[in-house]
Parts: sequence; C-alpha cells; structure tokens
Amino acid sequence: MLLLAIYGSPRKNGNTDLMTDSFIEGALSAAEIDLERIYIRDLQISGCLGCGYCDKHGVCVQQDHMQKVYPLLEKAERIVIASPIYFYGISGQAKLFVDRSQALFMRKQKNSSEGRSISSPVARKGFFLCAGATRGKRLFDCPVLTAKYFFDAIDVAYEGELCFREIDEKGAVLHHPSALEDCRRKGAAFVGVGR
Ligand SMILES: Cc1cc2nc3c(=O)[nH]c(=O)nc-3n(C[C@H](O)[C@H](O)[C@H](O)COP(=O)(O)O)c2cc1C
Repeated sequence: MLLLAIYGSPRKNGNTDLMTDSFIEGALSAAEIDLERIYIRDLQISGCLGCGYCDKHGVCVQQDHMQKVYPLLEKAERIVIASPIYFYGISGQAKLFVDRSQALFMRKQKNSSEGRSISSPVARKGFFLCAGATRGKRLFDCPVLTAKYFFDAIDVAYEGELCFREIDEKGAVLHHPSALEDCRRKGAAFVGVGR
C-alpha cells in the first residue's frame, strides 16, 4: 500500500508538518506501507490557467513539477494532505496544488464520456489535517470542503479530518494535550488491516 503524504504549509517544521509526521509515524507502526512525502513548498508549480486543455486532452498543459505528482495522486491507496488555515482557507501553496488536480478530474470525465472508466480497483482513501490560530466555530468549514472536493476530484473517498484550533506559533502543537497522539492514532487506523 502506498501512502502519499502532502505537506501544504510553507513553514518548514511548523505545526502541520509535525501533525503529518505524527500521522505517518502511526501509519508506519500499524502496517507495512510504502511512503512518499511531497512538500508543496519545494515544488515549482503554477496556478491552474483555466485554459481547458485538460478538458480536451485529459492532461495538464503546464510542464512543471505537478507532472511528477500526477502519477502519485493516481496511484496512492492512501493520501493525507495537511495545511494551516490561511484566511479561513488552506494555504495559497496548497490551493495551487489542489486546483491543479483539476486535470485528473477532467481526465476522469473525459474517459467516462468516452465509455472508459478509470476507477481504481482498490478503495482509495483520503484524510485531511489542519491547524489554525483562532477559535471560531466555523474556522475549518472552508478548508474541509476544499479537502473533500479535492479527494472527490481525484477519485479518493474522504475518510475524515483532524483540525486543531488555537495553534499558532511554530511548534505550538507540541503543547497541545492530545493533538500529536490523535494524529498518530488516526494514521494507524487509516492504513489499518481490513480497511
Ligand atoms: C498568511 C496567514 C494567514 C493566516 N490566517 C489565519 C486565519 O484566517 N485563521 C486562523 O485561525 N489562523 C490563521 N493563520 C495562522 C496559522 O493558521 C497558524 O499559525 C498555523 O498554526 C500555522 O501552521 P504551520 O505551522 O503548519 O504553518 C494565518 C497565518 C498566516 C501566516
């Protein structure tokens, strides 16, 4: 089983990096898995142009680092994506990445309109990790919706999320009473036997 972990914060070793590392630690403790980590901050990727090329051709016209990512997004049986809250959404970097998954969605549409299904024979699952500084009741509404539709676009079933409020300074999540242990536990369950 391939677990693809996508780090969506521009801040290296920040809170969502730590959450993702803990999630992976749990996953590795629970099952024999292959692991690929993607740090969006290290990729050179442009925003979606809305050019419609993928509608016609099923692939993105832009030749940047996303071209190496697409096969992983299509292949991984488990995908976890993490982002801090930026202005009540995911980070700009993570949003560019998510927007570029449109090419995979359009490929799926194109194939299905031409009578070819590209549904994976195995059940693929996705999970979302998020942290934000404030306490608002609806703090995670927008990023959770974005994560759900990202996974839907790439044909991955949304398994759930772990979101933590009042996490701001770099490393603040280390002082949360349960966050990293919660991430470990969810990571283990995410790849657990029989799932
Ligand atoms: C540009 C920017 C925008 C932010 N917007 C919000 C926000 O709207 N709501 C919030 O609660 N926190 C906001 N934050 C705080 C981050 O979500 C918080 O510091 C988070 O823990 C950072 O995670 P990281 O260490 O993984 O980058 C913002 C931070 C930055 C830098």
